[in-house]
Amino acid sequence: MEIIEAIKKRKSIRKFKPDPVSKEVIRETLEIAGRAPSALNTQPWEFTVISGDVMENIKKGHIQKIKSGIPPNPELKLMEWPRDGIYRNRQVNLAIQLFKLMGIDRKNKKQRTEWMERGFRYFDAPAAILLSLDRSLPETAPVLDIGAVMQNICLAALHLNLGTCIENQGVMYPDVVRKWADIPKSRLLVVSIAIGFPDWDFPANRVDSEREPIDNIVNWCGFA
Ligand SMILES: Cc1cc2nc3c(=O)[nH]c(=O)nc-3n(C[C@H](O)[C@H](O)[C@H](O)COP(=O)(O)O)c2cc1C
Repeated sequence: MEIIEAIKKRKSIRKFKPDPVSKEVIRETLEIAGRAPSALNTQPWEFTVISGDVMENIKKGHIQKIKSGIPPNPELKLMEWPRDGIYRNRQVNLAIQLFKLMGIDRKNKKQRTEWMERGFRYFDAPAAILLSLDRSLPETAPVLDIGAVMQNICLAALHLNLGTCIENQGVMYPDVVRKWADIPKSRLLVVSIAIGFPDWDFPANRVDSEREPIDNIVNWCGFA
C-alpha cells in the first residue's frame, strides 16, 4: 500500500471478525514495524503476542476486575484524562461520535459500561500485541520510540489487510496480563494493540475521528 494512502486510511478498529490471524502474518507485521527509528538505535521495544486461551483468560480477568469495582493500575501512567480545555473537547467529540453510531445514551450507565468493557476485551480481536520496555531504561524517553514502532505496526498491519486499535485499556490491569502471559518482571508494560480483520458492519468502525485544521497548530518561523 502506498504510504500516504496507508497513513490516511489507518483508523482505530473497535470490533473484529472472529477469523484468526496467523502467527506468520503477525511476525511479518512486527518485522516490518521494527524498522522504526529509535534514539541511538536502542530499539527499546519488546512484543508479547497473545491469542487463544491466554487471551480469553486475560479478558475474563479484566472483566472480573471491572465488575468488582477494582480501579485500573497501569504500570506506566501514560494518560491523565484532561478535565477541560481543547483536549477534553476533542475527547468528548470522539465519544459523542462513537456513542451516536452505537446508539449509546450518555446517561445510560449500563450501555456506557458495556462499551467500556469492549476495550478491556480487546474489541473481540483474535490477537493483541503487548509492548513493553526494559525497566533498566528511563521511563519517559523510550516511550517516543515505542510510539514510532506502534504506528509502524498499525500501518504494516493495514498493508496486510488487518485492522488495529492501540489500547491503554489492554494493559491497565497488569497483574491480570502477567498472570496469564509470560512477561518478565524486568519489563514494564506500556501499551497494547488489538489486531485482526475489521468487522466493517460494526457501526463504531465507521467513525471518522476529527483532526484540528493544520493552520491552527503550526507556527511558521523564518519564512517569507
Ligand atoms: C497511546 C494510545 C492509547 C489509546 N488507548 C485507547 C483505548 O484504551 N481505548 C480505545 O478505544 N482507543 C484507544 N486509543 C485510540 C484513540 O482513541 C484513537 O487513536 C484516536 O481517537 C484517533 O482515532 P483514530 O485512531 O481512528 O485515527 C489509543 C490511542 C493511543 C495513541
